Amino acid sequence: MTQRTTELRQQVYLQLRSAIDAGTFAPGARLPASREHARVLGVSRNTVLWALERLRAEGYVVARVGDGSYVAERTPAAPRAARGGVTAHQLLSQRGRLIAETGLRWNPSATQPLPFRIGQPALDQFPFALWQRLERQTTNATRIACAGYHDPAGHPPLRAAIAQWLLVSRGIRCDAAQVVITAGSQQALDLISRLLLDPGDEVLVEDPGYPGIRANLLAHGVLARPVPVDDEGLCIAHGAARWPRARLAVVTPTHQFPLGVRMSLARRSALLAWAQAQRAWIVEDDYDGEFQYGPQRIPALCSMAHDARVLYVGTFSKSLGAGLRQGFVVLPDALVDAFARARALSDRHSPGATQDVLARFIADGHLLRHLRRMRELYRARQAALIHTLARASHGALTLAPSLQGMHLAHEVGARVDDLRLSDRAGEAGVQLAPLSRYCIEATRRGWLFGYAGYDEAALGRAARVLATRL
Ligand SMILES: Cc1ncc(COP(=O)(O)O)c(C=O)c1O
Repeated sequence: MTQRTTELRQQVYLQLRSAIDAGTFAPGARLPASREHARVLGVSRNTVLWALERLRAEGYVVARVGDGSYVAERTPAAPRAARGGVTAHQLLSQRGRLIAETGLRWNPSATQPLPFRIGQPALDQFPFALWQRLERQTTNATRIACAGYHDPAGHPPLRAAIAQWLLVSRGIRCDAAQVVITAGSQQALDLISRLLLDPGDEVLVEDPGYPGIRANLLAHGVLARPVPVDDEGLCIAHGAARWPRARLAVVTPTHQFPLGVRMSLARRSALLAWAQAQRAWIVEDDYDGEFQYGPQRIPALCSMAHDARVLYVGTFSKSLGAGLRQGFVVLPDALVDAFARARALSDRHSPGATQDVLARFIADGHLLRHLRRMRELYRARQAALIHTLARASHGALTLAPSLQGMHLAHEVGARVDDLRLSDRAGEAGVQLAPLSRYCIEATRRGWLFGYAGYDEAALGRAARVLATRL
């Protein structure tokens, strides 16, 4: 055997093994057929077969007779960082390290949500048939247009439909030209951090609050300053006194994440006054603002602002589904072009075809109808959750009802170790987020019960299992 053959075999083997380690071929995935693989690489089939055989001997690959090679369900533990003696830390720039260390970790259990995982809408209620009909009704001219590049600020019909919908649904008056489409609210927050803040700037965040916001700020070198939340929402007087240099505040006024408080009118006015006096920005994250169950729905904070200091961030992750990756930010005219250019720098724009269908879905009134239906459903599920938990726990878990949102927070004394019950619940297949996970300095303890995405039977089963772990 020549030296060259040996090298080629080794190369093909290493390529395949690192693709398996990196998850390019997941456990159980079928590997390319050896003949085709050899043709693509320009090597002999024997070279590929040798590599596959070695991977099989090492436990990476299983061969199924007559059906090719598959990645083993449990591959040998791959000390990825240690291979070759190089760690990610050594490879990354300083900025890269900060981003990698603060970035959000993917949790595969998110693809199989179980009660009481929060933030899950009822995805099985998504109007798939209607969506497909709208896709089929796309004209040829639109199909061709959607196949090419788009305005990074968003598909004009979608921006127009959102502007109209915001007026009806959230009381916000804005022009279509102020609406910039983003890939969910996370991207809107990222653009805000990149364009309106510098490393070392201070930003007020709710404590407890949403980790996705805080992580994004930290990744940009921005100092996220914790401000307590009481039953009227963010304590802005407290925040203003303690952090006088703050240039921006991120709030969830409709349904504070995670406590579920609705910000009072007095607090809203105080927050707006602070922003005006400080020449600071307010970012309103209205992540589930469509889900209000009382006779009167409160409009967005943004609708109360007389100057352009509130940036309204909206998402379709809760109203339709996070997988769509459709969200938007409402901006003062002067900022629109900068946001569009920054968006284009990283990923150009959101997919045209999805934007087009969503535009028609909203403009034809389907979104309003879908939300009406979901509000009914979620209200009933919230009542079922409260009832079933109280019953299963013999009153130990008696949750207070809420007029908004998709989860309920149940608070207990600051001395309770809420992680303990969450861990015990997790062992029994019940996903129960502890409140302490969302605290920075705050010492709030308790649990979050998501209910929107689960039917009454599933909520009942989880409540009974949880009761056995109390
Ligand atoms: C407070 C808050 N903001 C925003 C989001 C939504 O993020 P995205 O629109 O990027 O899916 C979530 C999702 O869980 C959230 O809890």
